[in-house]
Amino acid sequence: MVAITSLLLLGSFLFSTPSYAVQESWRVRDASCPDYKTFSTRRHTPVTNGPLRLPFQRPISECRTFSSKEVERVIKEVTGRIPDVDLSRLFENCFPNTLDTTVRWHVPGRSPQSFIVTGDINAEWIRDSTNQLSPYLPLAKVDNDIRTLILGAIHTQAEFLTFSPYCNAFQPPAQSHLKPSSNDQSDNVNPPYDPSLVFECKYELDSLASFLNLANMYFEQTGDASFVGSDPYFLEALKNVLQVLDEQALTTYDENGNDRRNRYIFQRQTNVGTETLALQGAGNPTNLNTSLIRSAFRPSDDATILQFFIPANAFVAVELKRAKKLLAAGGYAKMADELFSRGEKIENGVWEHGVYEHKVYGKVFAYEVDGYGSIINMDDANLPSLLSLPLLGFVDAKDEVYQNTRRMLLSKAGNPYFLKGPEFAGIGGPHIGVRYAWPMSLLTLIRTSDDDVEIAAALDLVKKTTGGLGLMHESVNVRRARDYTRSWFAWCNSEFGKTILDLAARKPHLVFGEGAESYSIDSVAGA
Ligand SMILES: *[C@@H]1O[C@H](CO)[C@@H](O)[C@H](O)[C@H]1NC(C)=O
Repeated sequence: MVAITSLLLLGSFLFSTPSYAVQESWRVRDASCPDYKTFSTRRHTPVTNGPLRLPFQRPISECRTFSSKEVERVIKEVTGRIPDVDLSRLFENCFPNTLDTTVRWHVPGRSPQSFIVTGDINAEWIRDSTNQLSPYLPLAKVDNDIRTLILGAIHTQAEFLTFSPYCNAFQPPAQSHLKPSSNDQSDNVNPPYDPSLVFECKYELDSLASFLNLANMYFEQTGDASFVGSDPYFLEALKNVLQVLDEQALTTYDENGNDRRNRYIFQRQTNVGTETLALQGAGNPTNLNTSLIRSAFRPSDDATILQFFIPANAFVAVELKRAKKLLAAGGYAKMADELFSRGEKIENGVWEHGVYEHKVYGKVFAYEVDGYGSIINMDDANLPSLLSLPLLGFVDAKDEVYQNTRRMLLSKAGNPYFLKGPEFAGIGGPHIGVRYAWPMSLLTLIRTSDDDVEIAAALDLVKKTTGGLGLMHESVNVRRARDYTRSWFAWCNSEFGKTILDLAARKPHLVFGEGAESYSIDSVAGA
């Protein structure tokens, strides 16, 4: 398999333009490279001489899936300034992890394509891949390889959404000649999909927002909007996104009180309550007149209980508004205005229907609502979450409603999924269960905090609970931190990289030591 792929690749190198041929940042990994799923469960040398003796978990350079001089430079500059050798090692392992291990397929050149796997599963999640790539975006200004990689990822996501805009996880593109894998389920889903193209078809509103998010971030960093018109799939994908939004704005009953069929249906044979939908796969009822969009699943891939999932509505509102500039710069002024007004409408819906008066905490954001007055009060670690609302750009971290919500979510009494044990604490979720908190929630906590004590404590906890493996995991047992899930979870490794870069710029003394000057990947990249 690898040999055939190499031959094809060699063919395309020989018959392509010079700029294509000199591109060496991506290569087919040699078959002798270890499987990173196993590699990441073992400790590799050299270990640090710090108290945690954290191992070095990067594959050898021949086995990395993508290389970037700029990323190596940032690693060198940042690790060179962090006096805590264990923290420094964590950054060194985590920040490049997506490039090192998950660029399963990439075509450089003028019409780039990039297939970015989530890690231990050989499929691409739109949400994960956007977040996995996000720490490298500021480098797109100065690193042509990174720029091409991300432009390729936008293209590949767009291609996915042209054939199955309701789906969340996708198989390798046919041109890659990589074999599709199975999720071993036989879901009953409408609209139907082709399992050789789609890995799983859970409709998640945040996944569509993540597609817009990657395009918006790329445009904001590079000023390049040409792909809007020149990419063969982008506009079609965007139209499909808007169609899904229109279909999922439709509620359970119409204006005359008659029930109507949800365009999206999902049913799975399962004994896990969060893996299938109520009402014959349509999901619980939603009421008219909220301006909110339904989401069948959460970013954890668990079913929503009430379908107006507030974090995803906030996310898509922000990204629709943000896309106005991208579309206008790309020459689509009318669509630009349409996206903006759609975003505004959803934003108003969140404030009107997604905020309620809590007896203890005052005005707070709800996690899910249905427009009938029912509320699911909780937060889940997966992004977008309520805790992450300021990071999405929906609300200022100092906003009173957000601050009330934050206090509630970070307390045992206020959030059913705030989990605390002798060895770990943080927000978890139903996906892994009530004994496992997610490091991702602590990284979000850090990036939404201005409190040095709170930040330092959370950073210390994350650092000490990698199971001695020097990488972020999906979740950690709050009673016994050596027990974790997913040794290779690229998304959270990227979140860790972003968190250290955030602190390096915003609170340099917390990572570089007292009196240290701040470090900004942005100003370095812009210089
Ligand atoms: C929705 O809005 C329409 C028009 O204003 C109104 O007639 C109707 O009663 C509203 N329905 C609900 C359920 O709020």
